Amino acid sequence: MPCPPKSDDLVFFVNGRKVIERNVDPEVTLLSFLRKNLRLTGTKYACGRGGCGACTVMVSKRDPLSAKIRHFSITACLVPICSLYGAAVTTVEGVGSINTRLHPVQERIAKSHGTQCGFCTPGMVMSMYTLLRNHPQPSEEQLLEALGGNLCRCTGYRPILASGRTFCVESNGCQQKGTGKCCLDPGGNDSSSLLRESDICTELFAEDEFQPLDPTQELIFPPELLRMAEKPEKQTLIFRGERVTWISPGTLKDLLELKAKHPEAPLISGNTSLGPAMKSQGHFYPILLSPARISELSMVSKTSDGLTIGAGCSLAQVKDILAERVSELPEEKTQTYRALLKHLRSLAGQQIRNMASLGGHIISRHCYSDLNPILAVGNATLNLISEEGTRQIPLNEHFLAGLASVDLKPEEILESVYIPHSQKWEFVSAFRQAQCQQNALADVNAGMRVVLKEGTDTIKDLSIAYGGVGAATVSAQKSCQQLVGRPWNELMLEEACRLLLEEVSLPGWAPGGKVEFKRTLVVSFFFKFYLEVLQELKKLVKFMPDSHHYPEISDQFLSALEDFPITGSQGVQRYQRVDSHQSLQDPVGRPIMHLSGLKHATGEAIFCDDIPMVDRELFMVLVTSTRAHAKIISVDLSQALDLPGVIDVITAEDIPGTNGTEDDKLMAVDEVLCVGHIICAVVAETELQAKSATEKIKITYEDLEPVIITINDAIKHNSFLCPEKKLEQGNVEEAFEKVDQIVEGEVHVGGQEHFYMETQRVLVIPKAEDKELDIYVSTQDPAHVQKTVSSTLNIPINRITCHVKRVGGGFGGKVGRPAVFGAIAAVGAIKTGHPIRLVLDRKDDMLITGGRHPLFGKYKVGFMNNGRIKALDIECFVNGGCMLDDSELVTEFLILKLENAYKIRNLRFRGRACMTNLPSNTAFRGFGFPQGTLITESCITAVAAKCGLLPEKIREKNMYKTVDKTIYKQAFSPETLIRCWNECLDKSSFHSRRMQVEEFNKKNYWKKKGMAIIPMKFSVGFAATSYHQVTIAQNRSKLQNPTWKACFSDPPYSAAALVHIYTDGSVLVTHGGNELGQGIHTKMLQVASRELNIPMSSLHICETSTATVPNTIATAASIGSDVNGRAVQNACQILLKRLEPIIKKNPEGTWEDWIEAAFEQRISLSATGYFRGYKAFMDWEKGEGDPFPYYVYGAACSEVEVDCLTGAHKKIRTDIVMDACCSLNPAIDIGQVEGSFIQGMGLYTTEELKYSPEGVLYSRGPDEYKIPTIADVPEEFNVSLLPSSQTPPTIYSSKGLGESGMFLGSSVFFAITDAVAAARRERDTVEDFTVRSPATPEWVRMACADRFTEMTPTAKG
Ligand SMILES: Cc1cc2nc3c(=O)[nH]c(=O)nc-3n(C[C@H](O)[C@H](O)[C@H](O)COP(=O)(O)OP(=O)(O)OC[C@H]3O[C@@H](n4cnc5c(N)ncnc54)[C@H](O)[C@@H]3O)c2cc1C
Ligand code: FES
Ligand code: FES
Repeated sequence: MPCPPKSDDLVFFVNGRKVIERNVDPEVTLLSFLRKNLRLTGTKYACGRGGCGACTVMVSKRDPLSAKIRHFSITACLVPICSLYGAAVTTVEGVGSINTRLHPVQERIAKSHGTQCGFCTPGMVMSMYTLLRNHPQPSEEQLLEALGGNLCRCTGYRPILASGRTFCVESNGCQQKGTGKCCLDPGGNDSSSLLRESDICTELFAEDEFQPLDPTQELIFPPELLRMAEKPEKQTLIFRGERVTWISPGTLKDLLELKAKHPEAPLISGNTSLGPAMKSQGHFYPILLSPARISELSMVSKTSDGLTIGAGCSLAQVKDILAERVSELPEEKTQTYRALLKHLRSLAGQQIRNMASLGGHIISRHCYSDLNPILAVGNATLNLISEEGTRQIPLNEHFLAGLASVDLKPEEILESVYIPHSQKWEFVSAFRQAQCQQNALADVNAGMRVVLKEGTDTIKDLSIAYGGVGAATVSAQKSCQQLVGRPWNELMLEEACRLLLEEVSLPGWAPGGKVEFKRTLVVSFFFKFYLEVLQELKKLVKFMPDSHHYPEISDQFLSALEDFPITGSQGVQRYQRVDSHQSLQDPVGRPIMHLSGLKHATGEAIFCDDIPMVDRELFMVLVTSTRAHAKIISVDLSQALDLPGVIDVITAEDIPGTNGTEDDKLMAVDEVLCVGHIICAVVAETELQAKSATEKIKITYEDLEPVIITINDAIKHNSFLCPEKKLEQGNVEEAFEKVDQIVEGEVHVGGQEHFYMETQRVLVIPKAEDKELDIYVSTQDPAHVQKTVSSTLNIPINRITCHVKRVGGGFGGKVGRPAVFGAIAAVGAIKTGHPIRLVLDRKDDMLITGGRHPLFGKYKVGFMNNGRIKALDIECFVNGGCMLDDSELVTEFLILKLENAYKIRNLRFRGRACMTNLPSNTAFRGFGFPQGTLITESCITAVAAKCGLLPEKIREKNMYKTVDKTIYKQAFSPETLIRCWNECLDKSSFHSRRMQVEEFNKKNYWKKKGMAIIPMKFSVGFAATSYHQVTIAQNRSKLQNPTWKACFSDPPYSAAALVHIYTDGSVLVTHGGNELGQGIHTKMLQVASRELNIPMSSLHICETSTATVPNTIATAASIGSDVNGRAVQNACQILLKRLEPIIKKNPEGTWEDWIEAAFEQRISLSATGYFRGYKAFMDWEKGEGDPFPYYVYGAACSEVEVDCLTGAHKKIRTDIVMDACCSLNPAIDIGQVEGSFIQGMGLYTTEELKYSPEGVLYSRGPDEYKIPTIADVPEEFNVSLLPSSQTPPTIYSSKGLGESGMFLGSSVFFAITDAVAAARRERDTVEDFTVRSPATPEWVRMACADRFTEMTPTAKG
């Protein structure tokens, strides 16, 4: 076959426009091509691994077999551009635009408040758009399926789902919304509320204003591509890149010939397995063979005994094919198909299922494969083909183990897979357990199949295969053989478990750990299978009166059979309607859409890395330490510098000014303190060149002792970052002597990764004159970036301007670290004289930046038998990592807030920040409160257990009841706290549901329900602190830390604004807050609109910039809108005062008339506004102060159901009552409550950071670190903003709700532990369990101790 020497042209369409790429590079992904070549930056990079959906686009192709156009969503970061020959790509820009026509999907997601930071929004839009192209009126299930592969870190998904649901046929939403009454609200009689129901609103958007979906308006499939597809050219296409050649033959014959010629070349199908391996494991293939144009690989054939599916079919197509077959055939024949379908529902997200091929899935033989265990037990056969001819091999344990004798020969390819029908008396089932229900790799999965002798219970044939328990899918062949001939009964079950545990032996060091859990699942799954088969047999014998009698399943055990379905969340959001006398133009208190909402949805919102490439721009990649604690012996840059495109390598020696501080250096000099410590940075012409060069830098280390990773290690080595913080009241020791009982316990809370969707990024542009620099940066604190760059470069602050247009999520993670990246990039810019772009990839971001502090706490609580707590002593330690950063402040916050909502007379709280060899942990939403207060609430549950009372009774008994003082002697009234609590009890119908839960638990052994209601008193703001306790050295490092600076160098909470009125009457507002997704700009314009009495449409905010508002504090601690709102108000009032005489003179005039007159009278139309901040202080020596301006109160009630056999849980319902006082914008505030609640739920249930004993972070992407997905939101999720009753000293009496909801996520944690406790009581497991967050499936399963956990004593190995 002739091979043309030159590269072919790649032809495809993007948004209806033809793209012809000459000399295309096969290593380029669609994402990079869209963003860099076509400047379509709506499609975002967030993980690069197919795991988050931020880069979702739609691909349309003509299916050669059905001759229909297929539209499917894909993740552009994994799609090689060469695979798109003849395809049409639609990106978010092609769907609609603000300037032309908005698509209903875009309009609805924005107007339903489904966008906050907006970084995930284009991906969400594209997933929904693709769904609607295929199903203009989708079902709820299809909607959930379509969005299952898209992550959002801000919204909590509820509003996104609500927007999608407006397209569904059967909208299950509350049909009575807007009437003030709701079908989902059985309690609903606002007895405790100060307001009437008519003052309460439950509508956040007006659905009837949405434009209808008109499928005829969509882009058509390009006729040119249709013609190409109808008469496909058969010639082989070759795309030659610098390193890689992509060959796409047009016929099967040519493919086989090429495979014979290049036997080591992989067949690149969906690239979902090859792509990640090439990216992160360094796999490299100079030739890639694409089977995309070979229609034989997509054939499907149905026979009387089975189904043959082409290896090229995508997993999504396989799902449709199987579903069709299931609907056509009798149930007994489709056992294997139904088992496959079950796993195809939860395997990855929709985009990956659309891309991944059946052949690629099987041949990859991943140990976690969900399909291979089922195909193996289902006796599937692989049809192979080569130039030599065809042959069949069984898809069995030998093939899956990769035995060469039963594998494909190098010149063979997989053509199709034959899956036989099942028979009567044959039963096939599939099982899987993952960290969360959807879009997560299974910890363990299994396929099980048994054939019984007709009409009997005798095992004729049995096969079982497990995934996740070894390097490949493992078949329990020996056990199965030994069980043949045995009756299907309890004795067989016991024996089977013994045999399986013997055969499927996981060594103690198995990769990924979780050994005991996995071994327990091995037998728990078999037990489920045992029951399932009995259940099926029961159905069979119903029709055979004289048949064999099978063991009965006790009613209590039936619950073991049901899996938790994936369901969408429903709920009601309630807030106070604005006063009927408020002018219609005044937007304060109304649910105004996020200012950037529509731009988020169309992809027109510009984030830092969307700024077009600037002239002579270079790319920077950081080089970090691979050792946790070591001396740097040498750094050899020579090989890296020799590489093409590499311009320079920046080290600490290049810094003209200061390299951070002694304790917190920007770049390591002679010692590294953690894996991920920045050592140097490569600057190259392209990102790829810079990345390749980092691998060529040779660093030699000499390991140092000790290496401290855990809190326990730190305590052992007396390794702390700062002195102990302590608060005490009453006489704790004396009180302990007088109490009825004392309990002591321990609590462990894991850390948390911010996982903002937009990773850290910065663009530094040096200017030709006066050493000026423009810095575009994704930060919560541009002033800190500016100051750090100034001291690093040794140039005055006034030469540096930091710009923040918007930030794709921060959550505290972009307070301190962006300054480090900005400063290093600035050094690169000054040294090379070029603009420098630095964009962290997800794995580096997760490695370098640190997150929430893990915590270990010990408590001793003394109480009376009636549940009254008399004394509480808590000592806790947080893991601060290797540098101080915010750790001392976090410890202080923790101590200040530990009492939560409880009045306990005798208290002692102590806290210390441990210094370890991990990356420095830092600020994170809630700042210590979510970790610390888990100890307090755990004490409550421990007391309840000892007193034999319900936890809610103990909470109620010990809660603040009257005006009182906190442990630090700040006076406050708990009235709102009590209102929230009562309202939450009422709205959630707590007491009646509690009884139902108990009834359920009595009737079900393997499933348990749990409920918890948690009160919250959250102090808002930075704790202002007097610092005479701390040493000079500590002060020095503290003053490097932005939050401390907010406390010391600036007046606490101060804020400024600048408002310009232009001669046409339009107004430009600038303030010191940064738009992180929390809607601060929207709220600021609401304030300005009210103050100036002009519509919001006359107002505009462009960006936050250090040139317009200097010396700002970080946008953090829930106070951003409040303090900046006061500054904006002040500026507007100054302007209005100046306009007053003009208005008085012409009261009938318009705003424009007054502005024109003012201009003519030379009245300044520009004003700065300032807010000096609240008075606040804390004296740690005396242990007293007034550190916080006000409190936010709240309560949350959650109900869950756990599967005791697998550790999975389902969130049945959550009700939150939150005190927003007079919300500035209820849609935004409810969004903050929901988003932070779901983020908190992630902290307490699924988000788990895994380190090696040497301090290497394993969890460095969405595959290994599971933030909640759309399937994790409670099935019923109600949020009420408590109507106002107080007047806090804030802007229009509104409260900042950015962080507080985080802790309420613990209601899910305590509901889970409540369910686990019920299981343990029933099983007579008396001893207390250690409270450990997150309550992962592993923890839950092992805590629900039973006969199966007992079979798996700790594996030794
Ligand atoms: C984000 C993400 C989440 C995932 N989640 C899950 C999950 O929950 N459960 C699960 O089981 N899997 C999961 N996977 C893995 C996924 O199922 C596999 O990556 C996928 O099925 C591989 O198919 P592919 O077409 O992309 O293979 P490719 O990456 O294109 O190829 C993989 C291998 O198969 C070979 N190959 C492909 N086709 C043929 C053929 N016809 N003949 C011979 N060799 C062939 C190639 O040579 C290559 O070696 C996930 C993957 C990603 C990226
Ligand atoms: S960036 Fe592509 S899936 Fe995350
Ligand atoms: S709005 Fe979804 S990630 Fe920010």
